[in-house]
Amino acid sequence: MRLDSIGEDSGLPALDTPRLLIRGRTLAELESCLAMDRDPEVTRFIKGPWADPVAHRRFVEFRIERAYPPGLGYWSIWERSAPDAFVGWVMLIPDHGVGPEVEIGWRLVRTAWGRGIASEAAGAIVKHAFGTLRLARVIADIDARNGASRRVAEKIGMRLVSLVDEEGGGSCARYRLERGKG
Ligand SMILES: CC(C)(COP(=O)(O)OP(=O)(O)OC[C@H]1O[C@@H](n2cnc3c(N)ncnc32)[C@H](O)[C@@H]1OP(=O)(O)O)[C@@H](O)C(=O)NCCC(=O)NCCS
Repeated sequence: MRLDSIGEDSGLPALDTPRLLIRGRTLAELESCLAMDRDPEVTRFIKGPWADPVAHRRFVEFRIERAYPPGLGYWSIWERSAPDAFVGWVMLIPDHGVGPEVEIGWRLVRTAWGRGIASEAAGAIVKHAFGTLRLARVIADIDARNGASRRVAEKIGMRLVSLVDEEGGGSCARYRLERGKG
């Protein structure tokens, strides 16, 4: 496949960085996404149907195929140095699927952790959110125990705005970033 054609069916713009290809996610990445989620370390702090293969597949397919408002959705990530190896995704979607807040998020295969890839990809999404879409702000809801994800939020300039106890224990850290305040 030509590198410049990856993700072109998604309707989302390419958000490439010097090190990364960041392209609208399509069904071509479905199996890679499912395999990533089957690593219990990856989904350790994330609620979802990971233990039920049928529900899991349906969940990811739906999130790839559903319509998002213009410019919002999921982007798959590859390293330019290894364009055959899917490394994860970043997203910018209506909070809980409906908004009005817009949520930013990230997930990578374990072998890609610890090299700044999530922060670099999230930075490209923030640029798109504020520079192209002119959103007023973005939010992120992160399990308070998820230190790596909270650090990514901080590294892209997000500020902690609340820590809310969740049913069944634990708490959710809400981060926010406003246009022009990063
Ligand atoms: C969260 C995640 C995307 C981070 O990806 P990454 O590419 O390793 O992130 P980066 O390298 O850009 O930054 C991670 C930062 O967290 C730090 N960190 C790593 N583990 C940490 C921990 N347990 N506690 C605190 N900080 C931690 C790193 O040192 C780094 O900070 P630094 O650059 O100041 O040293 C990755 O761990 C992941 O996919 N986790 C599973 C899915 C997930 O939890 N997604 C978020 C759901 S809200």
